[in-house]
Amino acid sequence: MENHSHDIQQIIAPEDLDARVVEIADQIRKDYSAGAITLVPILDGAFIFAADLARNFKDVPLELCFYKTKSYVDEVSGELTTYDPLLEPAKITGRNVLIVDDILDTGKTLSALGDKLSQLKPKSVKICVLLAKDHSRQGDLDIKADYVGFQIPDVFVVGYGLDYNGMYRNLPFIGKMA
Ligand code: IMP
Ligand code: MG
Repeated sequence: MENHSHDIQQIIAPEDLDARVVEIADQIRKDYSAGAITLVPILDGAFIFAADLARNFKDVPLELCFYKTKSYVDEVSGELTTYDPLLEPAKITGRNVLIVDDILDTGKTLSALGDKLSQLKPKSVKICVLLAKDHSRQGDLDIKADYVGFQIPDVFVVGYGLDYNGMYRNLPFIGKMA
């Protein structure tokens, strides 16, 4: 059986995640003047971040439209697999769409989803990520997030939704794999 216990060193504490999520939610509510938003969380990684954001929107008319992709095996970004049936056009067309992802790394995921969403003619599309890695692997994709929780170094992280081969999404902090 595979050994699932890795050395994980906390780099962002649960209380810092909570505080930052509240700040981002406030900023978003102001920017949209508390108008209607369709949140598009990218599964599986964004599920905890999106849930915490959503419950901080309180007074905002909110819809959720989940989307699922997978590109990582081990610590390597590979071919992107998408699961389109989860995208419901009625929640996208003419709406203010806010894509929510766990982390912006190469930008491949967000660029592919952006293209699919624009075919459905949303009123606007913005991107919110919990983490963004400091590096230049984004190449010519040039994907910029409108809202970023934390800028982190180019290391592999887990917890608060992020996984290593499916494990560690349940950790309440962001940790670095040692
Ligand atoms: P991108 O398409 O290369 O920007 O990768 C984004 C996706 O890869 C995210 O949605 C994550 O699921 C995954 N990913 C990228 N970096 C990490 C990491 O450090 N830990 C866990 N997952 C990661
Ligand atoms: Mg992911």
